[in-house]
Amino acid sequence: MEAIKRTKIVDVLKSKAFGTTVNVKGWVRTRRGSKQVNFIALNDGSTIHNVQIVVDVDTWGEEFLKPITTGACINVNGTLVESQGQGQDAEIQAKEIQIYGTADPATYPLQKKGHSFEFLREIAHLRPRTNTFGAIFRIRHHMAIAIHTFFHDRGFFYFHTPVITASDCEGAGQMFQVTTMNLYDLKKDEKGSIDYTNDFFGKQASLTVSGQLEGELAAMALGAIYTFGPTFRAENSNTPRHLAEFWMVEPEVAFNEIAENMQLAEDFIKYCIQWALNNCLDDIRFLNNMIDKELIERLNFVLKQDFIRLSYTEGIKILEEAVANGHTFEFPLFWGADLASEHERYLVENHFKCPVILTDYPKEIKSFYMKQNDDGKTVRAMDVLFPKIGEIIGGSQREEDYDKLSAHAKEMGVPTKDIWWYLDTRRFGTAPHAGFGLGFERLLLFVTGMTNIRDVIPFPRTPNNCEF
Ligand code: 4AD
Ligand code: MG
Repeated sequence: MEAIKRTKIVDVLKSKAFGTTVNVKGWVRTRRGSKQVNFIALNDGSTIHNVQIVVDVDTWGEEFLKPITTGACINVNGTLVESQGQGQDAEIQAKEIQIYGTADPATYPLQKKGHSFEFLREIAHLRPRTNTFGAIFRIRHHMAIAIHTFFHDRGFFYFHTPVITASDCEGAGQMFQVTTMNLYDLKKDEKGSIDYTNDFFGKQASLTVSGQLEGELAAMALGAIYTFGPTFRAENSNTPRHLAEFWMVEPEVAFNEIAENMQLAEDFIKYCIQWALNNCLDDIRFLNNMIDKELIERLNFVLKQDFIRLSYTEGIKILEEAVANGHTFEFPLFWGADLASEHERYLVENHFKCPVILTDYPKEIKSFYMKQNDDGKTVRAMDVLFPKIGEIIGGSQREEDYDKLSAHAKEMGVPTKDIWWYLDTRRFGTAPHAGFGLGFERLLLFVTGMTNIRDVIPFPRTPNNCEF
């Protein structure tokens, strides 16, 4: 074959260089046609759209073309011509074809259209080759770039917090233990407790549930930082919104108080959504047509709304009124109760019909580090609640007073000896500060219209699921 520099299909489709010879490489979506002429729909992942390769059957013969089936990978040189068909500008008249790899139709699982998402999860190694998952993973990339751009443009520094940690004080979730000990031969002391002194770190260690505590250390030096990395929670919550391994974005800003923290969260989410519409419109249009007919409308709607700011106490009142008017909730509802997703979604979807930032939660149901309000009952927490998702962001202003922080930590049974370094920030040059955590996959659920969080991360980790 003549060596020609490859052009990505996304560029081929935009090209107007009709008459020139181009090279494309990609995976066959379909081959159809007649005894005289075949049409191959080829996709290389650079765009949701396929380029059409027009093949004169006589030139190659049926035998050569036979293995060019769905899933096969081919290399094509051909003449770029203006397409006669509707909906595409350019197509390629094949001059040379090389088959890189075949995909036997008897065993290649991605044959017909309309596989269920459940089935596709079982073949997560192949599902990026479907239109839907190609779109989702391109959008996932663009959202990561949006996040970095948003913070970089605003003078935040990307700060890397550790994945392995020896402090379990965040209380955000059950932790996965990290050990090199021989589990078949565990040494225990007289009391039956495991002796970690000979373990790799000389003490018990786990995978992090959040980078926040270390992020706060950085904010007290660099002023404004964000973390963006994998986070691990071992709770056995088999829901469409929980993963055991997910990605979290955590900005932390010195001198910000709760109101600025809320504004940052609102600006940040809107920026990401606008970025998706600006940079991923082809993929979003596809998802809008195939998955969720109201997706684009919903994205535009959120961009236009000022998010409602509401205290937990006012939120409970609204929910109690709803109950009085005949609405039923599965989970208990009273001042002091942690809100369930059904409560959050009632506020957002039924009552306000708009994203809501709920603040000032009872201190008992929130983390020890949140700034205590003067009422002695609530803390300066903020959860951003979204239509169809529920909680997308959790954050707070932090308690900067050493005495209040350590007293509250003790009250909540937090082992403060493990976080002497965290408490030190309140001893040396403490300052008001605030931050939050955005669940990256929850943002992706919103932007893609998908309804199961397993479908917006390439290789989901959930209870009993660690394949691939
Ligand atoms: O509300 P969370 O637990 O807050 C924290 O971890 C704080 N340290 C954040 C901070 O203030 N810096 O988690 C933050 C967000 C949630 O709002 C949710 O979007 C997401 O992380 N999240 C999960 N996403 C997927 N699977 C899970 N198991 C998740 N748990 C939380
Ligand atoms: Mg939370």
